[in-house]
Amino acid sequence: MSEAPTKKSDAPAETEGEYICQCFQVTDETIKTVIREGNLTTIEQITEACGAGGGCQSCHMLLDLFLDQHNKKNQPPEPEPAKKKKGFFSKLFSKA
Ligand code: FES
Repeated sequence: MSEAPTKKSDAPAETEGEYICQCFQVTDETIKTVIREGNLTTIEQITEACGAGGGCQSCHMLLDLFLDQHNKKNQPPEPEPAKKKKGFFSKLFSKA
């Protein structure tokens, strides 16, 4: 006999992202969104925006990481290093 597939209606609703701040149950997606939309630069601003980081502070390292990731994306690309000028001897002995 084959059993009909059971419906998993009593499974907990899936949340988007992973909980980063356990004290306030804030996910990484929420934190990244508030950082991006508010162009936030400090943990205090994140705490004001969504509550994350306002408790035991054990998530502060991860909040710093998200801030760093956001800031790196918004920095202008580094200029290419200047090309070295050829000196007198380099011009004489350069391979064609
Ligand atoms: S885990 Fe974020 S404040 Fe405690």
